[in-house]
Amino acid sequence: MKACTREAAIAMTAVSTAVALAACGADAGNDADGKKAPSIGLLLPDATTARWETQDRPLLEKKIAELCAACTVEHANAKNDVAIQQEQMDSMITKGVDAIVLVAVDARSLGTTVGRAAEADIPVIAYDRLAEGPIAGYVSFDGEEVGRLQGRALLAAMEAQVRGDQIVMMNGDPSDPNAVSFKKGALSVLQGKVKIGKEYDTLQWRTETANMNMSGAIAALGIGDIDGVYAANDGLAAGSITALKANKVDPLPPVTGQDAELGAVRRIVGGDQYMTVYKPFRPEASAGAALAVAAARGESLAELAPDKVRTRDGEDAPAVMLRPVSVTLDNIDDTLVKDGVYTVQQICTPRLGAACNEAGLT
Ligand code: BGC
Repeated sequence: MKACTREAAIAMTAVSTAVALAACGADAGNDADGKKAPSIGLLLPDATTARWETQDRPLLEKKIAELCAACTVEHANAKNDVAIQQEQMDSMITKGVDAIVLVAVDARSLGTTVGRAAEADIPVIAYDRLAEGPIAGYVSFDGEEVGRLQGRALLAAMEAQVRGDQIVMMNGDPSDPNAVSFKKGALSVLQGKVKIGKEYDTLQWRTETANMNMSGAIAALGIGDIDGVYAANDGLAAGSITALKANKVDPLPPVTGQDAELGAVRRIVGGDQYMTVYKPFRPEASAGAALAVAAARGESLAELAPDKVRTRDGEDAPAVMLRPVSVTLDNIDDTLVKDGVYTVQQICTPRLGAACNEAGLT
């Protein structure tokens, strides 16, 4: 008799069968088929970009629990430090987790560690950022499309406001392959249509760095000569806008963003930021969780991940590629509110009351 069945049989004299059997599955740490329940490592890159801890982590943990009640999740956040993330990966490998979900701090530097996990038969699911090395699967959005959406929105806003054609580009961290794709997509739309007055790569996607760089751009180009700001995500938009305001740039030029952070949505309603790119969190986390659970159980990913991604090692890996959505004042209701990411009450602080009414956010 398996330990679990024996315990249930003993317990049956005192408690109901249902309770005893339920305890047998989840509490005794067994998966549905009676085997030891898998453990999944979840490695996040930083706590500076809100999405990882406030959206992705809770959604991934919830979905993993739904798919595998007895699975355990071990979470670690590298706080933007490559060496710390390598140690966290190594520690998960030593503990013998059954799969790892990885958002790499630095795609290239993590490649060797991904290789060590594969040698130990631990599949790695690259989440949102494509890590180098022999990954088992990948879940993300079309990064070039994100950049194109940002570029098109910026051009449209500059035309509508009848502004000049000089922009400042705040790109992400070039060690993140997504940042490279966002920039490529944006340039495919903007090149030849605008003058790029200043352009910065932002190591570790830091808001403070974008803030400092924007102050430098204003000093170099002049207060009235920035007609648009391409900011690769909402953190960089926040840093840029704070610098524009501190330098009394008025009116503010249109500023792009990405991640649909609550602060960014409020800035859009208040007129400080023009747009953000919403990459629906729920489908991304659901796909990430499904791949992780299947990989941890040793099942094939082919059906769950019908797309393909070419890794830097020239191999194809099964992937789920999702569609990003451009969000401006006009469609906050139809996207973020409709999907339940934020309620109107969350977005509309008392200070934004009049702007919310005007935008029909009630
Ligand atoms: C993600 C973005 C995020 C950025 C900074 C990128 O890899 O795709 O959503 O804003 O990293 O964390």
